[in-house]
Amino acid sequence: MKDQYRDLVQKACAARLNSHSPYSNFRVGAALLASDGRIFVGTNVENASFGLSNCAERTAIFTAVTAGATEFEAIAVCADGTEPTAPCGACRQVLVEFGLDIVVLIAGENGPDETVRQTTVRELVPDAFVTFKDHSREGS
Ligand code: THU
Repeated sequence: MKDQYRDLVQKACAARLNSHSPYSNFRVGAALLASDGRIFVGTNVENASFGLSNCAERTAIFTAVTAGATEFEAIAVCADGTEPTAPCGACRQVLVEFGLDIVVLIAGENGPDETVRQTTVRELVPDAFVTFKDHSREGS
């Protein structure tokens, strides 16, 4: 894994430590690398009204969009447990919105020192639902 991706995984694991997850006790962090080099992090934020909880990946994506970044190269996800935990379906669909070629790095709590799965949004969401007409976002 290239150094830039190791760094992204480390930042995701660091963000995980800020998780507000008193209901599930399952901490998740995400770090999103924008095409302009900026990195946006997110964590899962739960609520007593469970359905209001937000995943780490979407926190990172929404933070990035708020800052004006909409083109992304990669996202790292780091969850509790030594085995990598793949992003949920909702977060996959939100990632689809920004590009099927985004690299997805999936790590366990030990970060880049243990197995990190490297995949893409395209692989995680085969036959994705898209409505946009800008085919540059679909890849080839
Ligand atoms: N969670 C994430 O942050 N990302 C995912 O992709 C899956 C689930 C969070 C939501 C909730 O706070 C906790 O993990 C348990 O489901």
